[in-house]
Amino acid sequence: MALSIPFIFLALGISRCSASIINNVSDLNKLGLTFDFIVLGGGTAGNVIANRLSENSSNQVLVLEAGGANVGVLDVEVPFFCSQATPNTAQDWNYTTTPQTGLGGRTINYVRGFGLGGSSAVNYMGYTRGSKEDYDRFATVTGDQGWSWNSLIPYMKKNEQFSLHTQDNHNITGQFDPTVHGFTGINSVSLPGFATPEMSARVLKATTESTEYPFNLDMNSGSPLGFGWVQTTINNGSRSTSATSYLAPQFINRPNLHVLLDARVTRVLPTATGVFRTVEFVQALTGPKFNLTAKKEIILSAGSVGTPNILLHSGIGDSSALKSLGITPLHNLPSVGKNMTDHTLLFLSFEVNNPNTWETFERNATLGQQALAQWTNSKTGPLVDIPASQLGFLRADLEGQFPDPAAGPTTPHFEFLVGNGFFGPPPATGNYMSVVPALVAPTARGSITIGSSDPLAAPLINPNLLGSASDSFVMRQAVKSALRFASLPAWNGYVISSLGVNSNSTDAELDTYIRANAASVYHLAGSASMSPVGATWGVVDPDLVVKGLTGLRIVDLSVVPFIPSAHTQAATYIIAERAADLIKAAWAFGGFDKRFLSRRFSISME
Ligand SMILES: Cc1cc2nc3c(=O)[nH]c(=O)nc-3n(C[C@H](O)[C@H](O)[C@H](O)COP(=O)(O)OP(=O)(O)OC[C@H]3O[C@@H](n4cnc5c(N)ncnc54)[C@H](O)[C@@H]3O)c2cc1C
Ligand SMILES: *[C@@H]1O[C@H](CO)[C@@H](O)[C@H](O)[C@H]1NC(C)=O
Ligand SMILES: *[C@@H]1O[C@H](CO)[C@@H](O)[C@H](O)[C@H]1NC(C)=O
Ligand SMILES: *[C@@H]1O[C@H](CO)[C@@H](O)[C@H](O)[C@H]1NC(C)=O
Ligand SMILES: *[C@@H]1O[C@H](CO)[C@@H](O)[C@H](O)[C@H]1NC(C)=O
Ligand SMILES: *[C@@H]1O[C@H](CO)[C@@H](O)[C@H](O)[C@H]1NC(C)=O
Ligand SMILES: *[C@@H]1O[C@H](CO)[C@@H](O)[C@H](O)[C@H]1NC(C)=O
Ligand SMILES: *[C@@H]1O[C@H](CO)[C@@H](O)[C@H](O)[C@H]1NC(C)=O
Ligand SMILES: *[C@@H]1O[C@H](CO)[C@@H](O)[C@H](O)[C@H]1NC(C)=O
Ligand SMILES: *[C@@H]1O[C@H](CO)[C@@H](O)[C@H](O)[C@H]1NC(C)=O
Repeated sequence: MALSIPFIFLALGISRCSASIINNVSDLNKLGLTFDFIVLGGGTAGNVIANRLSENSSNQVLVLEAGGANVGVLDVEVPFFCSQATPNTAQDWNYTTTPQTGLGGRTINYVRGFGLGGSSAVNYMGYTRGSKEDYDRFATVTGDQGWSWNSLIPYMKKNEQFSLHTQDNHNITGQFDPTVHGFTGINSVSLPGFATPEMSARVLKATTESTEYPFNLDMNSGSPLGFGWVQTTINNGSRSTSATSYLAPQFINRPNLHVLLDARVTRVLPTATGVFRTVEFVQALTGPKFNLTAKKEIILSAGSVGTPNILLHSGIGDSSALKSLGITPLHNLPSVGKNMTDHTLLFLSFEVNNPNTWETFERNATLGQQALAQWTNSKTGPLVDIPASQLGFLRADLEGQFPDPAAGPTTPHFEFLVGNGFFGPPPATGNYMSVVPALVAPTARGSITIGSSDPLAAPLINPNLLGSASDSFVMRQAVKSALRFASLPAWNGYVISSLGVNSNSTDAELDTYIRANAASVYHLAGSASMSPVGATWGVVDPDLVVKGLTGLRIVDLSVVPFIPSAHTQAATYIIAERAADLIKAAWAFGGFDKRFLSRRFSISME
């Protein structure tokens, strides 16, 4: 059928029902469309690109997402249930790591969101941009000032729709700085909506008792150091994902925006030497392969695991390693999958003297059902929040032993996630508080590699958690700091004891405990890094086009040259917002290839 269905509906002036999300490629083919842009991966970044490129009705945009729609999944929608959304659920890729040397040889679950929204649909919703220095380092390392904090502020605001409303209608003055936020963006961000006064008051009191733990009005100001109220991607008590926000009905109903679900990309294929505009995918693990070719660009947004995995299977990577696996190398880029970096955390809990912790409703089915009914009926109560109310970003005393691993002196080395109960299934008795330390400025680099030429096989994931002496040292300093924090006078009569380790633990005991219990924060980044134009390392140029190729761009968290010292979804959204403008600019004059464009610019600058 030559005429496209959307065209007929438009011509007749009939508004289309929401038919732009399709499960079966033959239904897509029936539309008879050709696509200008094909986005691989409907995750955090991919849906931003799909939304922004389809703002121009001349662009036909298609998203290919391996998973399903993720609609109506309670563990995805209810903020407090975020810890149940994964691992090994329908919305997880169910990966495990290679044995982690820094964790005593353990392998651990490695969660990646599967389905529309990607990891934004399964993450813990903390919204932290990172420090000004984190972004200024991107600019310095890539030679593109467009990646600096000041240049990116408009994109931060384009992403963010900060809510002045909270679910419990409390007065939020003093809990954030309105001058640093965006109120008219697309992705909802809000402050906690269920008070935990016994604990929160003590956190705030503790910030007045020691200069080590200052209060920070707003950690999204570019200066994240100190303790403040957590900001989360929650909209009126429900999770906001890149799918519920950037693909909300007013966007997904655009006639030029289409999403194909259950479409697992296996490779990108060349249409000419050095030009990659075709994508190969399957709809079932044992089913046939399909090809689609974009008129303008393929945008690879499969995330820090998926993106290098697809590149490697396409023959784009370290040619000699690919050859030894029986994959025909097409483009030698040894940095693909290298330099991957992640954050490490340690669940650390304290038994406390407070009957009103999460354990109360977690252990009593009647109260649990009441909490869920309250959430369902009015979007209020304890389930409207994630299991953390404050975050603290802090610097370690490196004791002169290591160079500063952070982007600069106002960038944190570690973080505390503070919550009014035990993280995860609680012990049978007792009430708890969590002060979970996380290493946010690691030096160890890991990798994504492949072990076979089968594009449907899981890649080999090595985040190399605590893989350097510096990282182990800072993690130990962070745990000691958490124990110090919980022994400030503010906690007198409240904290009864710590679990697992205590202030008398020796360094060796702390290290042993950390190795045996530490886990990933699932912030993996940097596996397809930007580098300066002409650099001998890196995977993409600062405009995110794959080095030396035409038609193929990468937009997801894999492109950062260093992991930000923060939770990583905000950075992902910000990068994607700027990337959309870079793509629009590249095609604004009808689409010269970028080598031609840069030649034009260098001529016009002379
Ligand atoms: C459990 C968990 C908790 C987290 N908590 C937080 C938090 O509290 N705050 C925070 O800021 N960050 C958090 N993060 C990290 C944050 O969510 C990620 O850094 C961010 O979402 C990454 O975005 P992305 O676009 O790079 O990748 P993703 O959002 O993962 O998107 C990749 C998409 O590509 C799809 N895909 C992959 N391979 C293929 C293929 N072959 N074919 C088709 N589609 C494919 C995937 O299914 C997915 O939809 C958490 C992550 C996890 C997993
Ligand atoms: C897709 O549709 C085609 C044609 O209607 C059908 O043969 C095929 O079984 C469908 N595939 C799936 C996965 O449902
Ligand atoms: C992960 O495991 C769950 C539970 O077994 C399953 O439903 C889901 O499809 C798996 N994910 C993938 C990508 O296979
Ligand atoms: C909120 O609190 C601030 C400071 O305490 C006060 O100035 C302001 O009037 C309050 N706002 C409302 C709506 O009560
Ligand atoms: C996809 O394209 C490649 C390269 O042009 C070709 O070899 C292959 O047969 C095509 N696959 C399908 C399923 O059409
Ligand atoms: C890793 O990143 C550093 C810059 O941080 C760079 O110098 C190095 O070449 C990269 N290594 C690879 C294999 O890409
Ligand atoms: C659970 O909570 C209900 C409602 O407060 C209470 O009546 C009941 O005794 C509690 N059950 C247990 C086992 O504590
Ligand atoms: C928030 O949710 C409640 C309960 O479902 C609903 O009544 C209200 O209209 C919603 N508010 C907004 C702004 O969507
Ligand atoms: C640490 O050791 C001292 C001295 O033995 C003891 O008084 C104190 O209770 C111990 N603290 C903890 C947390 O075990
Ligand atoms: C929309 O896209 C078309 C086709 O690429 C381009 O010519 C036009 O300039 C774009 N419009 C805007 C407003 O960018």
